[in-house]
Amino acid sequence: MGIDLQVKFAGLTLKNPILTASGCFGYGEEAADFFDLDKLGGIVTKTITPLPRTGHPPPKVVETDSGMLNAIGLTNVGIDKFISDKMPFLRQADTSILVNIGGTTVDDYVKLTERISAESDVDAIEINISCPNVDRGGLEFGASPEGAALVIRACKDVSKVPIISKLSPNVTDIVAVAKAVEDAGADGISLINTLVGTAIDIKTGKFKLSNGFGGLSGPAIKPVALGMVYKVASNVKIPVIGLGGISSGSDVIEFLMAGASAVQIGTACFAEPLVFLRVIEELTAYLERKGHANVTDIIGTVRKD
Ligand SMILES: Cc1cc2nc3c(=O)[nH]c(=O)nc-3n(C[C@H](O)[C@H](O)[C@H](O)COP(=O)(O)O)c2cc1C
Repeated sequence: MGIDLQVKFAGLTLKNPILTASGCFGYGEEAADFFDLDKLGGIVTKTITPLPRTGHPPPKVVETDSGMLNAIGLTNVGIDKFISDKMPFLRQADTSILVNIGGTTVDDYVKLTERISAESDVDAIEINISCPNVDRGGLEFGASPEGAALVIRACKDVSKVPIISKLSPNVTDIVAVAKAVEDAGADGISLINTLVGTAIDIKTGKFKLSNGFGGLSGPAIKPVALGMVYKVASNVKIPVIGLGGISSGSDVIEFLMAGASAVQIGTACFAEPLVFLRVIEELTAYLERKGHANVTDIIGTVRKD
């Protein structure tokens, strides 16, 4: 039996629900040495900022129990080089291209959205709102419903493509932020970004990361991510992409059952670049076993009884 893995998301048709997560797949060039990018449901690029950024000094990454902490500092080539050097490569891939952007002012986000959404073959813009707002003393845009809505509304006003708001889990009420970005015009939501944390080297008594704090990702965060995805998907009408600690077909199935229309895989692909293909196989095998012809059959099906 042929299984239909196609899903609709925010006006896009994704060939399957497995996408890469921002910052864990660069701009796709390295991964193309390992496998055919056309097999992916979509590529989400590293966050692009107005100017190139070298990021924080090393150490930028620390392994933790069942996860990793990173303080990369949004290292990226900047918008000019992204458009001249990276987009031509991405355009060749027969998959959906979601460009992730970040800034320190609302104006940064607006200018990035204007330029990127005018590029051919950009299917959607994913807005990384986990960035400090310099006009508000460095508080992250995504830390409050108002801050999140401010960025999303401004980007939506100028965008020619769907706007996906990527939520930060470092808030007390994720549903309030999700509803605020929905009201501000977001076409979809992705969650979660990393959870703030740290690690200390007891031999030296110093923080293990040069930046002190970093973002926790990997299997350690999956239960938190899954819970947030369920809460958000049950409280908004726009579609949701789930991510956080996914590394197997069964992880994907959990996120889909919780209400996500698609998922992204980040940390798992550092250890296993082919994880995307394995996960697609495992998902397909499950659907076959359960007699489902379409992956959409299982979206939002989790029950309490
Ligand atoms: C090394 C690294 C770099 C990341 N860079 C970005 C980034 O540039 N923009 C962004 O929105 N998220 C970034 N993230 C967060 C991931 O996209 C993802 O939200 C998070 O890691 C949870 O998924 P995972 O557990 O599958 O990695 C980064 C994560 C890691 C581990």
